[in-house]
Amino acid sequence: MLFYQGVPVDRITVSAASGPYSVLIGNNAIEGLGRELDAFKLGPRRILVSSHTVWEFHGPLFRKLGADRTPILIEDGERYKNLNTVARVLDALVKAEADRSAVLIAIGGGVIGDLVGFAAATYLRGIRIVHVPTTLLAQVDSAIGGKTGVNHPQGKNLIGSFHAPSLVVADPIVLETLPRREFRAGLYEVIKYGVIKDPTLLDHIRNNTTAIFNRDAGAIAPLVMASCRIKADVVSFDERESGLRRILNFGHTVGHALEAVTKYKQFRHGEAIAYGMLAALNIGVARGMTPKSLHDEIESLIAQLGPLPSVSDISAKEVYAAIGRDKKVVAGTLHFIAATDRGKTTELTDVTEKELKAAVRKIGLRA
Ligand SMILES: NC(=O)c1ccc[n+]([C@@H]2O[C@H](COP(=O)([O-])OP(=O)(O)OC[C@H]3O[C@@H](n4cnc5c(N)ncnc54)[C@H](O)[C@@H]3O)[C@@H](O)[C@H]2O)c1
Ligand SMILES: [Zn+2]
Repeated sequence: MLFYQGVPVDRITVSAASGPYSVLIGNNAIEGLGRELDAFKLGPRRILVSSHTVWEFHGPLFRKLGADRTPILIEDGERYKNLNTVARVLDALVKAEADRSAVLIAIGGGVIGDLVGFAAATYLRGIRIVHVPTTLLAQVDSAIGGKTGVNHPQGKNLIGSFHAPSLVVADPIVLETLPRREFRAGLYEVIKYGVIKDPTLLDHIRNNTTAIFNRDAGAIAPLVMASCRIKADVVSFDERESGLRRILNFGHTVGHALEAVTKYKQFRHGEAIAYGMLAALNIGVARGMTPKSLHDEIESLIAQLGPLPSVSDISAKEVYAAIGRDKKVVAGTLHFIAATDRGKTTELTDVTEKELKAAVRKIGLRA
């Protein structure tokens, strides 16, 4: 166990085709960022990229980094996750005469991470990137695994590449300033890890809800550590999503479809996943493969965290059509993850239209 300022920091190693990288997780882990960059010879040229919002809150944490200039600041929010914003980052890199030894340090949520990751993947055919995720979702999910990309007007994440980071530093302290709705959206992904792999996460969230919402760092750090460990294990085993990595898609078949039919405006990603998990549990229960008690446990845990946007105006038919257009349909076959117990899943390739429509009506969609 590592310590920065007397506080434990967890180190996880992820293996990737391009080489292993560390994920440092812990309160005040950002304090150790400079030392880590030096230890991994990530420099000397370090270029920070962040968003106005995030930099305003947390910029001072990075002043000591030895970055040689002021950060490249971009707009964030899903609607800026596009090629225009990537072009702005690339322009700034050209202007700064960044060469192949430059290291980008992306400080922000999943939008910043995905977008700057894609810029790093393409600038000079690939330069190194370090992620400092600042939303719960980015800490437990998007910063690890090397998926980068941007949206196209026709669809989400249609343009992108795999580009593994050289280092990830997840510091729960920065979550203090995260709006409550964003924070909750990340918690639904933590629930996902609880369902697919580590049921103690479910107990931890249920028993410490108040401390978690108060951003009590002692309550959040264990959640981030356990979630990162699962994501790291899965992507180390299956970087390119040829098999095992698909378990991370639990709740995402219906979740992505809900996001798509509402044009990414009605739900935060995690909120759509909360509904998607309930739909997936419904399918399992109807088949007799998911314990009803697991469905009920997740339903009440989600309810305990707060309200979700309504789905009553969304049609099951449209959601079904959107599922057919999803990336999870490979060569005409839908790969659907169902839960068979707390912490256990199976992959189904024979889920029918009837089952999907029934499951989404059960979570409140109209016919
Ligand atoms: N690459 C992957 O494997 C992967 C996995 C999951 C999601 N994603 C992507 O991640 C994106 C969503 O990421 P997100 O949920 O982090 O949203 P986000 O990046 O849009 O951030 C949400 C909001 O929080 C603000 N914010 C960020 N950190 C803050 C902080 N510490 N304090 C206050 N405000 C802060 C941002 O300015 C933004 O307004 C989506 O585009 C999704 O496609 C990628
Ligand atoms: Zn997700």
